[in-house]
Amino acid sequence: MKDFYDVVNSRRTIRDFENAFVEDEVIERIISAGMKAPTNDHMRDWHFIVIKNKDTVAKLINKIPKQISDEEINAILRDWNLNDTCQQNAYKDAIPKQYQMFAEAACVIIPLLKQKTDILHPENLSHLNGYASIWCCIENMLLAITAEGYASALRIPLGDEGDWARKVLNFPKDYLMPCFIALGKASANASCVKQKEYSISERIHKDVW
Ligand SMILES: Cc1cc2nc3c(=O)[nH]c(=O)nc-3n(C[C@H](O)[C@H](O)[C@H](O)COP(=O)(O)O)c2cc1C
Repeated sequence: MKDFYDVVNSRRTIRDFENAFVEDEVIERIISAGMKAPTNDHMRDWHFIVIKNKDTVAKLINKIPKQISDEEINAILRDWNLNDTCQQNAYKDAIPKQYQMFAEAACVIIPLLKQKTDILHPENLSHLNGYASIWCCIENMLLAITAEGYASALRIPLGDEGDWARKVLNFPKDYLMPCFIALGKASANASCVKQKEYSISERIHKDVW
């Protein structure tokens, strides 16, 4: 097992996987790490659908575009006003791999949270607490995946991908899927985009900004 700071520093998003199998016990430890995350309401009403069956994965991801041209990628960068070179490089790596990263992963994990209010129309920040809590859970899982020697990538469901996932996986109406998680072994030539550099001393404001 790696030391905590080694894990934090080596966790990176990987979208290129080799053919591999992940034991159920490893997945259970990863999800147990997720379940230790802080939670707003003490309930941790979170569920996880672990999909290893390739036919189910193929059905689940069939709304994600399989191919995307360089022109389409450039149009997205323009539309989203992504002008920073480091950021552009990250998106240029990520956008064309959205389908492949799930198709090639050893398994796909769908975390689910019980969502009591309309997530798209929150009345105050507290109404987002459940969503914030599951992201704490997801980060614990990403760190555990790294500690276990595996790699991960994630995707936020776009358009009707969330509704489609509910149909394919049969999860209840009052559970919300915040993301898809790909879990697998990084391939030998897996790319890992450069993280944007920052100066930590410029980000810390002592006493006042
Ligand atoms: C809230 C959130 C949403 C993200 N959405 C996606 C996504 O839809 N597709 C994707 O490939 N990566 C997604 N990512 C991963 C980021 O692209 C990735 O973390 C970022 O490029 C930094 O790279 P690193 O994780 O290797 O440091 C998301 C990450 C977060 C935290």
